[in-house]
Amino acid sequence: MTDFLSGYSIQRWLESCPQGYLQGTEYGHAPGEKEPELVLEDEWLRERAISLTVQLVAGERCALAASSGLVNCAPDHASKTFLATQSLDEARHVEIFSQRLFDLGVKKGELDDVVRREANPNLVRFAETLLEKVDKRDFVAGVVGQNIVLEGMAFTVFEMLHAGMQLGNPKFARTLSGTIADERRHVGFGENRIGSLIREHPEKKSEVEKLQKEMTYYMLATFADRFRDGSLAAERDRVRAKLGTVGIDASQLPTPEWHGVNLADASPQDLENLLADSVLKEFKLRLGRVGIEYQTPVRP
Ligand SMILES: [Fe+2]
Ligand SMILES: [Fe+2]
Repeated sequence: MTDFLSGYSIQRWLESCPQGYLQGTEYGHAPGEKEPELVLEDEWLRERAISLTVQLVAGERCALAASSGLVNCAPDHASKTFLATQSLDEARHVEIFSQRLFDLGVKKGELDDVVRREANPNLVRFAETLLEKVDKRDFVAGVVGQNIVLEGMAFTVFEMLHAGMQLGNPKFARTLSGTIADERRHVGFGENRIGSLIREHPEKKSEVEKLQKEMTYYMLATFADRFRDGSLAAERDRVRAKLGTVGIDASQLPTPEWHGVNLADASPQDLENLLADSVLKEFKLRLGRVGIEYQTPVRP
């Protein structure tokens, strides 16, 4: 077991991450990069950007609590080492997304209030469901919940956001790309470590499947809340109108694409389905590889 985990040393992490793809970045983006004027000068768009970023901060705070909590209940030193590097990655993610909130005008002293006010209640339940397992020092359930379910969700959400932001907000897109590279390492660990643990503890399977089902429900409910409140269409209209006032015809701009879908034109319902289906595909694949059967929750 330790053999295939030896790739997760601190040395390797230093070389690939801080001295690798993060070198020269400042809070995850190139020094001096700013949020687009379009967002900063429009109160409503700024509030929308704050609300989205709060969800990322809330998810990353959960990932930090889970990965650091799992360090002390990991059964082997290689896992502890990896989870220690992951804890620092997650603390960095909390920091860079919190920094984005400050860049968007949130005052330092208001951060926690803004996160509490704007965090989606279903996302909060998602986090609590995972952290209950970590608090009980349940390593197997904790790693599946954290490194397969939470990371699988984060990874896919970030990829979609990255595709959507690349043209209009290079600063945020760069921040996301470094985060995606980290999350890719984290899901890899979950798969490598948990497969053998599930084989050693087949009695844990049904409990882990129940956890996955519950977390998946809260995740889908979070997506439903975000895509079904009509705000996405309003945001698009507002951006188009704003661009129009400075003589830019939005329909002539290059279109952001993800999985072959034009993100600027697809309906909110299609985008919700695209995101949900992409995450669930990821879950099924990874859970299947570690010997856990994906459980379908009711669709919110
Ligand atoms: Fe993260
Ligand atoms: Fe992560």
